[in-house]
Amino acid sequence: MSVLSGKRILLGVSGGIAAYKTASLVRLFIKAGAHVQVIMTPASKDFVTPLTLSTLSKNPVYSTFFNEDEEDEKWNNHVEFGLWADLMLVAPATANTLSKMANGTCDNLLIATYLSAKCPVYFAPAMDLDMYKHPSTIASFQALEQFGNIMIPAESGELASGLSGEGRMAEPENIVAFLEADLESKLPLKEKKILITAGPTYEAIDPVRFIGNHSSGKMGFDIAKSAANLGASVILVSGPTHCVVNHVLIQLVKVTSAQEMYDACHQYYADVDVAIAAAAVADYRPKNVANQKIKKAADNFVIELEKTKDILSSLGENKKQQFLIGFALETENEIENAKAKIQKKNLDLIVLNSLQDEGAGFQKTTNKVTFIDKDFKIEPMELKSKEAVADDILNKVIAHFYE
Ligand code: CTP
Repeated sequence: MSVLSGKRILLGVSGGIAAYKTASLVRLFIKAGAHVQVIMTPASKDFVTPLTLSTLSKNPVYSTFFNEDEEDEKWNNHVEFGLWADLMLVAPATANTLSKMANGTCDNLLIATYLSAKCPVYFAPAMDLDMYKHPSTIASFQALEQFGNIMIPAESGELASGLSGEGRMAEPENIVAFLEADLESKLPLKEKKILITAGPTYEAIDPVRFIGNHSSGKMGFDIAKSAANLGASVILVSGPTHCVVNHVLIQLVKVTSAQEMYDACHQYYADVDVAIAAAAVADYRPKNVANQKIKKAADNFVIELEKTKDILSSLGENKKQQFLIGFALETENEIENAKAKIQKKNLDLIVLNSLQDEGAGFQKTTNKVTFIDKDFKIEPMELKSKEAVADDILNKVIAHFYE
């Protein structure tokens, strides 16, 4: 999955022949899963039509401060565009637009939006080779880089003038690759390894029966996705579940029983920076597993159970560099029980689910949790989607490394 997936991209198009390439660029952004809002300078409309970019971006395209066509929404609010975006890209960035950006010459919607944008701004220059080398253009590049804007350098090749040299706007594929590489290099959990347990475990009674629980695995899978989207390499050890995952940074290790989950966790634990135990591990398993299917006979049937190993406790015992997060599912004396678990299992943070909270728990898409850290600082959270809870958990991980 591209790091651009879900990102809100503001594409500012200025008036150069390379503007025709923005059709492919918008297409690539949409294919990567991004949301695209195009703002054009009036001159750029001579090179590519707003209709083309609007159709491809699935959004209206704006180029003036006033919108004559819309009765209700006459005013195109550059401040709103600027706040909406996760990143702004000016492509093609002509010498004229670059100079206006560098000097704050706010005579069109694109520049007003640029001046309002709080997000990272990238620009992909496009012009003839002599213009590209002119001290005035170089001064614009330098000014913009000083502002923290990021240049996607022009490429060499045949230019619209018939001359050949540096100045062609980077090809759309290369712009996308540049943005992806730049965003990935800035992800907060890049180079961090995270072990996550998820789902239920099944403890065999005989070849066809088991003791299990209703855990869907969703919470653990959402944590894995959130961690991977932040750049972490994830080892997701999961019991049987219908959840699916498809992310280059997530390695899924499928297990069935508590013992298999224990073994898999210990295989990877020494190398990880963070471990998060979201699995609903069976606390007990049948002491003897029948080799053949058990036939029904007597009216009563007793299965003797023995304790499984507590995976999270064993991770706590072997803890070195790892930031260790556990879950607690409680029905009474929640806070006190959760605090006791922090100490017993040597945790850094516990995510407490109280079944007394409506909307929390197994087979739900929402969760209401309370964070308690090892100093017993208590932080109750709102009822949220499990994806949002996963993001909150990862924010705790980021805070651990950077605060
Ligand atoms: N856990 C584990 N291995 C087990 C049991 C639990 O790794 N054999 C982990 C869970 O993934 C969870 C945490 O321990 O992160 C707490 O599990 P919970 O069932 O709430 O607590 P228990 O320690 O099993 O205690 P109790 O059932 O008595 O509340």
